[in-house]
Amino acid sequence: MRTGFAGCFDSSVSPMAESEKEPQGAREFYGIEEASTEHGHLTRNTFDPQQRLSFEEIKDLDEKYVLPTYARLPVAFQYGAGDHLYDTEGKEYIDFLSGIAVTLLGHAHADLIAALSSQAEALWHTSNLYYNQGQAQLARALVEVNFPGKVFFCNSGTEANEAAFKLMRAYGQSLSPKREKVVAIKNGFHGRTFGAMSLTGQDKIHNGFGEIVGHVEFVNADDIAGLSAAIDSTACGVILEPVQGESGVIPLSSDFLKIARARCNEEQVVLAFDEVQIGMGRSGHYFAYQHYGVIPDIVTMAKGLGGGFPIGAMLVAEKFSHVLKPGMHGCTFGGGHLASAVAYEVIRTIESQKLLEHVKASARYLTSALNKLKAKHAPKVEEVRGLGLLIGVVLEEGTDVKALVEKALSLGLIIGRGGTNVLRLAPPLNVRKATMDKAVELLDMLFASME
Ligand SMILES: Cc1ncc(COP(=O)(O)O)c(C=O)c1O
Repeated sequence: MRTGFAGCFDSSVSPMAESEKEPQGAREFYGIEEASTEHGHLTRNTFDPQQRLSFEEIKDLDEKYVLPTYARLPVAFQYGAGDHLYDTEGKEYIDFLSGIAVTLLGHAHADLIAALSSQAEALWHTSNLYYNQGQAQLARALVEVNFPGKVFFCNSGTEANEAAFKLMRAYGQSLSPKREKVVAIKNGFHGRTFGAMSLTGQDKIHNGFGEIVGHVEFVNADDIAGLSAAIDSTACGVILEPVQGESGVIPLSSDFLKIARARCNEEQVVLAFDEVQIGMGRSGHYFAYQHYGVIPDIVTMAKGLGGGFPIGAMLVAEKFSHVLKPGMHGCTFGGGHLASAVAYEVIRTIESQKLLEHVKASARYLTSALNKLKAKHAPKVEEVRGLGLLIGVVLEEGTDVKALVEKALSLGLIIGRGGTNVLRLAPPLNVRKATMDKAVELLDMLFASME
């Protein structure tokens, strides 16, 4: 029996229902063969779990209608349970990527479903023009789990970094018009919007878009002298990933982060850690900065925060929480009722299930098993590195990592890539020992196939 206000509305009165009454042309139920290209009516669609499309049908639709910005792997998933996913043919996979470090608690977690469903029946969206209980409680939870300050909410990692970029610039401008420079790290990754892309130290991300946002200086990862010199009186901010994810799971050295902190203090520069990928418990701490013992002024986060429901956030230390004043920044959907309810439940579950301890123990177990594989498959497997449950397996230069990821998929193991020669593993925080054992077995087969 559903509760709340959902029942007040007559769901039969919808554009979809209208299109069903007056079918224009021969449109099959799924609209595959006969999908109309006319505007003004909608091909009937369905999410009926009993009547799914085949993989080929999904692929055809995608190729016809979705802008081809992604090189997709040949699979479509239909449902998930915990640390496993199931595709359109019913094949089972171990999910060791978690939707690129997103589904922190695995798939179909009962408490997340309950939190989302009960909020869905009460209220979806009201905008940030009004107070929002769930958002305020989520902000308090994020502050309480160890970042004293205030929170700005958005929907994604790139938006969280845009917010950080604007805050750093606004703070610099409040000191002097000359303070525009942001220091970032080569091979870092901060997102795809213009600002975040401009902070990303990779030519391949910039190429083809003309002029990017200026006054960004890149220094090499762990180049302490270069970093110290770049943080000067023209700088307003520094942004870095404590563990560079996209470029191959590269943890920065603790000395580098300490120098960043010290120089930012000396030059009155804002220090931002992009914890979009490593944050929210993946490191074995809520945030990787806690592992390093270096406290930034800003932490950006997204991915795992909503456990699969889109939400991003920028946490700002008290000292800088006055910089963005009303009207200087905003986000229509940021910290909406649904996202906030789910994210709050993610944090509650991390606490109640003591998942940070589980991450630390699982990371030790998995890393040790992977190191045994490294010894067995040397020199093809060169190194196992990372922090917590964000792990990079470095393969011999020249290895066709893309082909290997596809091969793993065919074996029933979902893993990702990083940099040029690194396999990226990011299982859910509540991954089970039996799943790790099976994944290691499959990786063993995968590495053996390279010889
Ligand atoms: C460290 C880091 N920052 C930012 C982003 C961008 O996040 P989003 O794709 O949610 O915009 C990513 C995405 O992979 C990331 O890994």
